[in-house]
Amino acid sequence: MLIRQAEKIRSSEITPRDVYLNRRKLLAGTAGLIGASLVPSTGLAARLDAVPSRYSTNEKQTSFNDITSYNNFYEFGFDKSDPKRYAGRLTTSPWSVVIDGMVNRPGTYGVEDLISPSQLEERVYRFRCVEAWSMVVPWIGIPLGDVIKRADPTGGAKYVAFETLVRPEEMPGQKGFGGLDWPYREGLRLDEAMHPLTILANGLYGNELPNQNGAPLRLVVPWKYGFKSIKSIVRISLTDKQPQTTWNMQAPREYGFYSNVNPQVDHPRWSQASERTVGGGVFAKRKETLMFNGYADEVAGLYAGMDLAKNY
Ligand code: MTE
Repeated sequence: MLIRQAEKIRSSEITPRDVYLNRRKLLAGTAGLIGASLVPSTGLAARLDAVPSRYSTNEKQTSFNDITSYNNFYEFGFDKSDPKRYAGRLTTSPWSVVIDGMVNRPGTYGVEDLISPSQLEERVYRFRCVEAWSMVVPWIGIPLGDVIKRADPTGGAKYVAFETLVRPEEMPGQKGFGGLDWPYREGLRLDEAMHPLTILANGLYGNELPNQNGAPLRLVVPWKYGFKSIKSIVRISLTDKQPQTTWNMQAPREYGFYSNVNPQVDHPRWSQASERTVGGGVFAKRKETLMFNGYADEVAGLYAGMDLAKNY
């Protein structure tokens, strides 16, 4: 983002070699095809059963290959290909999440206690990065609101703060100087966190999340720029103060607390009016960006009366 202004445009199509290799695996009985997408065939990720959701879009889904090889996860480096290259070394089991702050039931929960398999839903969401590219991702997860309700927020709680793991020995981007101020932090207003579109995701494309996408548990807030969707969460704190957030701390004029997708409010260094579809090929036409990333009917009411140019 800040560090990589001139975003590299890669051709992220599936190559004939990928198709050949996957056909070989299919013949060997280890992989199959769902629709037009290549199914992940690592054999490592566990399959998740999830029910469909009325919140899903039926737009064309970005390929598994693009979703898992074109990533922002600065704990593993600044290049889009670094997370896939290095995130494999992150130990994601066992994993616990601290829920604390203004709640009546604080605690440290194993990820398996937070997300029960019977609750899982598939949510196919548009995902729009502040760098002006977008994807359509079939996430699996549960509403964040369910987890917050179980912790029972006290009357004064107004915000939710999130933190990612700090483990430099497994996250090379956290070593040395010149990176972000770790841990990666994000925050939401409590009503945004409780909104039914906001999920904690533990999977995509029918399997557990790959590490580069934020295993074992990440946030997904589809009407906000992608950097709000914090990965590999270890702490969720309820508070009465607006939390500090990583990119706002780094460049407050460029990245606000709200960061709702808004084609009318440009980033100081580039337009937000349109977006490039990842996997669309270099000659594909840019798409017009929609207010709240197309989720205005569901979420515009959260911001009634607010000046969205000031509260960017
Ligand atoms: N979470 C952590 N902990 N570290 C990060 O660097 N990058 C953010 C967000 N969550 C990031 C993070 C940004 S800038 C984006 S666009 C999305 O993750 C990218 O998610 P994806 O790689 O699954 O597409």
